[in-house]
Amino acid sequence: MFADLAALPPDALLGLTKLYNDDKRTKKIDLGVGVFRTPDNRTPVLKAVEGAQSRLVERETTKVYLPPEGAPGFGDAIRDLVFGGSIAADRCAVVQTPGGCGALRVGAGLIKRAGAQGVTIGTPTWANHHPLLSAAGLKISMAPYYDAQTGGIDFDAFYESAARLGPGDALLLHGGCHNPTGADLSTDEIDALVDLAVEREFLPFVDCAYHGFAKGLDEDAYVMRRLAERASEFIVSYSCSKNFGLYRERTGALILVGASADRTAAMKSHVLNIARQIYSMPPAHGGIIVAEILTDAALNRAWREELEGMRRAVVANRLLLVKTAAERQLGEKLNYITRQNGMFSLLPVSDAQVLTLREKHGVYLAGGGRANMCGVNDGNVGHLCEALADVLAG
Ligand code: LMR
Repeated sequence: MFADLAALPPDALLGLTKLYNDDKRTKKIDLGVGVFRTPDNRTPVLKAVEGAQSRLVERETTKVYLPPEGAPGFGDAIRDLVFGGSIAADRCAVVQTPGGCGALRVGAGLIKRAGAQGVTIGTPTWANHHPLLSAAGLKISMAPYYDAQTGGIDFDAFYESAARLGPGDALLLHGGCHNPTGADLSTDEIDALVDLAVEREFLPFVDCAYHGFAKGLDEDAYVMRRLAERASEFIVSYSCSKNFGLYRERTGALILVGASADRTAAMKSHVLNIARQIYSMPPAHGGIIVAEILTDAALNRAWREELEGMRRAVVANRLLLVKTAAERQLGEKLNYITRQNGMFSLLPVSDAQVLTLREKHGVYLAGGGRANMCGVNDGNVGHLCEALADVLAG
């Protein structure tokens, strides 16, 4: 049966970690997959997670199945974190999923079940959006988004594409810390797109994978809160991988907001049914940890401090890179990076230069020149800038 199946290449992002680990050189820099890193290149378990985890181990008496919507308390806690109490509880349902990927996949399944035409996404976008959403049978259309000349957004072009959408279409929006560009919509631009969604009746689908990494938890929730005020329907895929550091625990949520309590309940029933057809129910461990952290005052405080620490560290790394670049023959070429948010920015290099950076200099970037700013530190920024100056000089 499998004789004709040709082997596929490794996943573009996940495969990069193996290439980096297999590289025997000591002078190498991992700016690949999106995980937080300390200056000594570790991705530690958050203290709040350790605290919640030890309580969980002490009190756990069974491993019976979770309810299909996830760990008790998880959904309400995520709803309050995202909306800050600004949404009627019966208009909003939260279904725990295996990571943000699981949420994107079942969210796409829900859109497909509703008979939608497809999803429009700004370009470039995270490498896994297309495979995940199209696996549910949706047609993907790309719209212009990033402006490489300015490091900002070509908002007029993006808005114009969105203005052609209508009922039966969905528009995917990054909920801050755009992956891969770091170029986020301003609050005015969000307002304009939310009004457009209401007017044209297309579905906003927000992918929120870096909540708390741009400006802070409340500021980063702006698009979701604005939608809650204005739009009758929208959905959000939410990831706890980065902000809780729970990557391998596969912890995320699909947030469903319907026009009425009945519509929301119907949307939720379909999501649970789609999940049942793929993985039945989410893994328990991460969901219980998140619920524990968000509902316990001391753990919640500790987590918020740790998240703010990670956010500030990434901002500092961006400044460090731009300052060092200016000192190492790169002038103002990277200045746009300090105006961007979150883990990623695109460095001004071609795919051939990405390969040269890896092979000649041991600098690992994802495709398109995406650099994880968490991997920049005092110890490697000089080498990084010299390598960049070398490839850019030709
Ligand atoms: C990334 O973009 O590097 C992360 O979101 C990890 C992943 O699953 O691709």
